[in-house]
This record gives sequence, structure tokens and C-alpha cells, in this order.
Amino acid sequence: MNIQKNVLLKKFTTFHIGGLADFFVHVRSIDELKEALLYAQKNLLEVFILGGGSNIVFSDDGFRGLVIKIEIKGVICRDVKKNDISLEIGGGEVWDEFVSYCVSQGFYGVENLSAIPGTVGAAPIQNIGAYGVEVKDVIEWVDVISIKTGEVKRFLKDECAFEYRNSFFKTKKGKTYVVVRVCFNLKKNNSPNLSYKDLANYFKEENGPSLKSVRKAVIAIRSKKFPNLDKVGTAGSFFKNPIITHREYKALEKKYPGIPSYYSDRSHVKIPLGFILEKLGWKGKKYKQVGTYKKQALVIVNNRSATQEQLKEFVRMIEKDIKEKTGITIEREVNFVM
Ligand code: EPU
Repeated sequence: MNIQKNVLLKKFTTFHIGGLADFFVHVRSIDELKEALLYAQKNLLEVFILGGGSNIVFSDDGFRGLVIKIEIKGVICRDVKKNDISLEIGGGEVWDEFVSYCVSQGFYGVENLSAIPGTVGAAPIQNIGAYGVEVKDVIEWVDVISIKTGEVKRFLKDECAFEYRNSFFKTKKGKTYVVVRVCFNLKKNNSPNLSYKDLANYFKEENGPSLKSVRKAVIAIRSKKFPNLDKVGTAGSFFKNPIITHREYKALEKKYPGIPSYYSDRSHVKIPLGFILEKLGWKGKKYKQVGTYKKQALVIVNNRSATQEQLKEFVRMIEKDIKEKTGITIEREVNFVM
């Protein structure tokens, strides 16, 4: 284990924002992780756990403590029942490499989550989702390590309190654990989930597309709406889509005719904030070095050398405008580290 000093954080996040971390370490095994946690404890250092850095904006002043980058790898694949396959994956595996592996093996369940940046370990924390699928749909259990004691603990799916872009691991107690391994239950035979409008449209001429073509379609649809991460700094959707009551939706529909709604539960619907942002003129808007993406208003981009401060100012302007125009308090999906 090699603890480095004064490491520039911006290169470890997809937003490319952030100053120096006092201490930084890459951990490749559970033992190395335990060693790093012990080091932090002995030296009274605050700890920050980093995965793929795709949902994080570090401070321009960096981080006073130890940043631990989880690079714990490993793939264990087991046949469980006739049609079920169980996959135990190290938290530091790259999410999309895992999806690509599943598709190449003919395992159904994660293909709609193609091309999402980040790591396997980060996926359950915010319950990543896209094109009608959430990762909770295929999770069996999540193994974690306690930051305080180094003890390993297993959370079964029902103990993870999964919700839209939320889970137990985002609570105060949940944040005292580090995800080290995730077990998925996938199917060897299934039909693809084409419930999301964009996917259904893509395949409207085709009957029963293959797993590989679903992945290809998701990647093609995403690339039209999201900037290329190799070229532009971003963290994808910046805000969560609001969940509102039917009555609130009816009122909103009068103001913004044609606004789509998605089932959330019996009394609530989820609405696309991108739609409202576009109507309010936020699409492609620039402010200092940040702005909303020209093809998707929910995506905020770093136009060159943005700072966390500029991003915060811009985000507050959007939040205030939405509150004033719709009465909705929007929630951030991306996390600012102070
Ligand atoms: N829309 C607009 N204008 C915009 C953006 C969107 O009118 O500028 C409309 C679209 O036309 C569409 C609707 O809003 O009718 C939904 O748009 P889209 O399919 O692009 O999805 P989204 O609601 O903006 C969510 C997720 C994405 C996920 C997509 C596809 C959240 C916060 N975001 O975005 O997830 O990829 O659906 O399933 O739930 C992420 O979480 O980082 C993320 C990228």
C-alpha cells in the first residue's frame, strides 16, 4: 500500500474539478482497505471513499484527509438455478466493463444500464438507473466493511432500503460502510425490457432484439443525449427527477402542456426535470465556465476550467428558478465534497 501526498483530485473525477488531497491511496484488496482505514484512524485523518468519481465534485481547496480509491477487482460466476446466474463482483470493477461482460456471456438484467460511468461498488449506493431498469432489480446482496471497525458485513437486498436514486448507504449510518463486493442475480434466458419510450422507438420495426443489440441501442441513445466523457467534464444528470402527487402534476401540466410523467407509486408520479428546464430556457445556458448541455438540460457540463464555486452558483440559480416557477424543491444527484 502506497500512501501518496498532495494528489490532484480533479483527474479522478468525471467533472474534472477539485484541488489537492493531503493523502491518497489506491486499494486493491480488502486487506489493503483495512490497512488504509487503520492508517487514517491512527493519524486522525478524515476518510473519503472514491469509486469512479462520476458523481462527485471536490472542493477547489481539495480534501484535508485521506482519499481511498477502491480498486478491488474480482468476478465470480455461479450457476444457481436452471435460468439463474449469480455474479459476485468486486466493488472496484468498472461498471460498464461488467455490463459488457454480462452481455457477451448472454446474461440478461443489466444491458439497459450500459455506458453508465462509475464502479460496481458505487452502483447500489445511489441505485443507478436508466431506460426502465434500476440496479436494485438485479441485486441480491451487498458486502461492506465498517470504516470504524474494519468488520465485514452482508446486507441482503431488502436491508438496503433501495429507492429511486437512494439507498441505506446514503444515510448517516450507511455512510460508515464501504461497499467492497456486490452480488447480482441475472437470467440466462429472458426478453429485453423495452418499456422506456426511447428504446421502444428504437426497436419499433424489430421483433425481439438480441441482448447485444439492446446494449448497442442504449449506447446509441445515450450518446445523443450525453457529452463524451473523454472530451467534456460532467456527471450526467445533475438533479434527480422530482416525485410529485397526482394533484401537483395536474397543475403542472396546465403550465407545461405535454410534460411526461412516469409511474412512481399509487399516489405519485415522477416527472422529467429536463423538460421543465428546457421550457424555462435553461437548455444550453452558459455561466462562467459551467453550463447545461446543449442536447440535455438536466446535464451540467464543465466548459473548460470550472471551479466548484462556479458550479455551486449555477446550481443555486437553477434551484431558485425551479422553486419560484413550479414550487418544487429539487434534489441534487451529484455530491459536493466540502
Ligand atoms: N427532456 C426535454 N428536454 C431536455 C431533457 C429531457 O424535454 O433537455 C424530456 C425528454 O424529451 C423526455 C424526458 O424529458 O421526454 C426524459 O428525458 P431523458 O430520457 O433524457 O431522461 P431524464 O429523465 O432526463 C433519466 C435519468 C438518467 C437516465 C435516463 C434514461 C435521472 C436523474 N436521470 O434522465 O440517468 O439515463 O433517464 O433512463 O433519473 C443519471 O442518473 O445520471 C442518468 C444519466
